[in-house]
Amino acid sequence: MKNKRVLLGITGGIAAYKSAELVRLLVKAGAEVRVVMTEAAQQFISPLTFQALSGNPVHTTLLDPVAEAGMGHIELARWADVMLVAPATANTIAEMVAGRADQLLTTTFLATAAPVVIAPAMNQQMWANPATQNNMETLRGRGVLVLGPAEGEQACGDVGAGRMLEPAELVACLMAPYTGPSLSGVHALITAGPTQEAVDPVRYLSNHSSGKMGHSLCRALLAAGAEVTLVSGPTNLLPPHGANYVRVDSAREMLDAVMANVETAKLFVATAAVADYRVAEQAAHKIKKNNDEMSLALERNPDILAQVAAISDGPICVGFAAETQRLAEYAQGKLERKNLDMICANLVLGENSAFGSDDNALEVFFRDGNSQSLPRADKGSLASSVVSLIAQHYFS
Ligand SMILES: Cc1cc2nc3c(=O)[nH]c(=O)nc-3n(C[C@H](O)[C@H](O)[C@H](O)COP(=O)(O)O)c2cc1C
Repeated sequence: MKNKRVLLGITGGIAAYKSAELVRLLVKAGAEVRVVMTEAAQQFISPLTFQALSGNPVHTTLLDPVAEAGMGHIELARWADVMLVAPATANTIAEMVAGRADQLLTTTFLATAAPVVIAPAMNQQMWANPATQNNMETLRGRGVLVLGPAEGEQACGDVGAGRMLEPAELVACLMAPYTGPSLSGVHALITAGPTQEAVDPVRYLSNHSSGKMGHSLCRALLAAGAEVTLVSGPTNLLPPHGANYVRVDSAREMLDAVMANVETAKLFVATAAVADYRVAEQAAHKIKKNNDEMSLALERNPDILAQVAAISDGPICVGFAAETQRLAEYAQGKLERKNLDMICANLVLGENSAFGSDDNALEVFFRDGNSQSLPRADKGSLASSVVSLIAQHYFS
């Protein structure tokens, strides 16, 4: 991280003591570090510690007469190559979502054009609270990179998700864009979410896919420098910041959107859970419940992944397989049958189901017969690992 300018925001969580080690490691890695602390953070650890470790004065107030033009927040926002908030409290996360600008840290966050990375740290119940989870989804959707939190024993005695990642892990993640895989100049086309196949004007056939894995992969591809087109079925997720986003409903609409964008794509990643069948004859009006039984005739939907994989000189094709049993056998069969370069397989049965969940585990199989296990992790970390594998195997 030689000469990289890291603006470190420290908020009022018990993990603030770990930020001292974080500054030490960043400086050791060659970064220039400036620290902004909230009022609450200063109750946990003294600014003097960070001044000594960073070699720079610590910034604590919005109204700063010492700043060159009296506008410390703008100077800091422009100075930063990356802004890291670690630990990020539930409160500061909520303020970032709301766009508040009544103290230095959040005002600088609003004013910076630099990439922003946050490392949440809080009690597991605070982390699990829907308010916090919604806030995280919003920040992710706006392009903020979220690292952690980890699971484990907490300072309050609870056990669960909410611990800040260790300083060394945070530094490794921050260094990844400088040392990690690059997909700069690669147009990546990715599908995500379920499809909806209309039965009549008010009903449809669909599946439980949440689109989370596809959206996480989209963000990881963007972080690796790719130009990304995301074709997504209906989900509750915000379009990732920086992606060319195409929203579709049915499998046939998804096929059309993919084919309209595939010509320039060097990489195609198919995470969408495309319905295999659609209703043969969609009713023009709402179907009435006149009979005790009814049957729907279904017909096959197009196989989008197989169609893209069949294009001569087409993109590298990465598929996903959700299976309820015999994972390796079915996934490898799909890889060969559809002529894919790589397939990521996961089990979707019982408590291990990836559908809707925030974490997942994958078995990755390559065309040359090699395979690799990616152990259970949150979908963001897993997506970064998948993108690293793609970059190493096909773009290095
Ligand atoms: C001992 C103690 C520990 C705390 N630890 C955390 C924490 O780990 N994470 C968190 O989100 N809030 C924690 N809080 C609550 C925050 O300090 C509080 O919400 C504060 O307003 C955060 O301000 P800030 O976000 O501006 O730094 C803690 C409070 C106390 C008293």
